[in-house]
Order: sequence, then structure tokens, then C-alpha cells
Amino acid sequence: MTVVVLLGAPGAGKGTQAEILTKRLGVPHVSTGDLFRAAVRDGSPIGLEARRYMERGHLVPDDITIRMLLARLHADDADSGAILDGFPRNAAQAAALDSALAERGSRVDRAPYIEVPRDELVLRLSGRWICAAAGHVYNEHTNPPMQPGRCDVDGSELIQRVDDEADAIRTRLAVQLDALAEVVEHYRRTGALRTVKGVGTIDAVAEDLLAALTDDPVGAA
Ligand code: AP5
Ligand code: MG
Repeated sequence: MTVVVLLGAPGAGKGTQAEILTKRLGVPHVSTGDLFRAAVRDGSPIGLEARRYMERGHLVPDDITIRMLLARLHADDADSGAILDGFPRNAAQAAALDSALAERGSRVDRAPYIEVPRDELVLRLSGRWICAAAGHVYNEHTNPPMQPGRCDVDGSELIQRVDDEADAIRTRLAVQLDALAEVVEHYRRTGALRTVKGVGTIDAVAEDLLAALTDDPVGAA
């Protein structure tokens, strides 16, 4: 089982890179943000609850988030592992993931931390567009679609996320970075952390991430 946790601030490029890594590693991309957005679209109870937090840029409570993520990891396609994007988001979630994996005789193998300066994060988030059908990610400045307003992959309409509005971006960066620092520390302690420079072309960042995933084993000097 290969479990990779992609770490990074809002807008660092976790979703973009996870789409590349999922093809290279052959394990599914599991994004709690995408799962919550699908639940919001479906109007399910989880979606109705999560939307209140997401729209304002706050974290969704741990009990709902952990239950949803662990259920997803029990699906058959995650038997061989997963690339986690957006989970864990604080120390409590990191501990819950460790125990669930330990029960399966597994652990987080690598936690690459995609580092991007704050000004660049704001620029990326405010120019982001995602496709309505599946959340494929574009950027009007740095990563435009081939045909304006349409997804390259499935042709669906491109829309902006409600939490990419200026106020919500400010809140996300103000309230979520301390929790991210807890998670970075957690994986520094376990030996899984690898820091990767997130500025550069999408392909260059992907190559650095792949190198970080295949370097010396956890716990080695
Ligand atoms: P989530 O969907 O996880 O959002 P996030 O962490 O804020 O991260 P983003 O998706 O905004 O950014 P990203 O790092 O994926 O960057 P992307 O690849 O899109 O969570 C949303 C909300 O759900 C949370 O705020 C919270 O409410 C809730 N939630 C989710 N998980 C939770 C949890 N575990 N606990 C509690 N609540 C939770 O790239 C950004 C832009 O940059 C794109 O436009 C892209 O095209 C562009 N780009 C990417 N790479 C590059 C590059 N190298 N150069 C230039 N541009 C680039
Ligand atoms: Mg994302």
C-alpha cells in the first residue's frame, strides 16, 4: 500500500499535482475538498453541513471530515493506497489517519510539502477556474484551457469556486495556515516530510515531487 499525503497552503497546487501523480503511481487521488464539493452538489446532509464552513473559508469539523475520508479509503480502489489531497488538515486528523492506517499494517510513506509564497497563492486562487462536471483545474493566467470557458478533458463549463472570492481567500489564508504548520511538524517527526519548491512550471514541480517520492526510505538518515 502506498499512501502519499500532499501538503500545501490553499492554492499551492495540490489538486493539479495529484492529477499527475495518480497517473504515474496508479493509486487514486482522494481530495476531501472534492468530496465535500460533490456532496454540496448532491445536496446530501454532509454537503449541507460542510457548505456553511467552506463558503466562509473555515475548516469543516473533524468528526464529519474524518468519517468521510476513512469511508473513502475503505473503497476497493484504495486497497493499494491513495494520494491524499487536503487531508489531514490538523494534528487531530493526522492522528486519526495514522491509527486507521496502522490497523491495516500501513502508514503514510511520504508527505511532500509544496511550498509557495503567499502573494503567489493569492494570484493563483483568484485566477482559478474549475470544470463544473469533475473539478478539473485551470488558471486564467498560468494554466488556461485550450478553448476559453470549456474543460479540455470533458468539455464541461468552467466555473469559479465560491471560496475563491476575495474575502474567502483572505479567511482561508488567515485561519488555515497554523493548522497546516501542525501537520507539517507531524510529518517532520515521523520522517515522511519532504519539502518541494512549488514555484515553477507545473511539469517541473511534478518532477521534483516524483523525485521526493522515490528518495531514501522513511527513517533513513
Ligand atoms: P480544498 O479543496 O482542499 O482547498 P484548499 O486546500 O484550499 O486547496 P485548493 O484546492 O484551493 O488549492 P490546491 O492546492 O489544490 O491548488 P490547485 O491545484 O487548485 O478545500 C476546500 C475547503 O473544504 C476547505 O477550505 C475546507 O472548508 C474544506 N475542507 C477540505 N478538506 C478539509 C479537511 N481535511 N478538514 C476540514 N475541512 C476541509 O492550484 C491552484 C491554482 O494554481 C489553479 O488555478 C492552478 O491551475 C494553478 N497552478 C497550479 N500549479 C501551478 C504552477 N506550478 N504554476 C502556476 N500556476 C499553478
Ligand atoms: Mg485543490
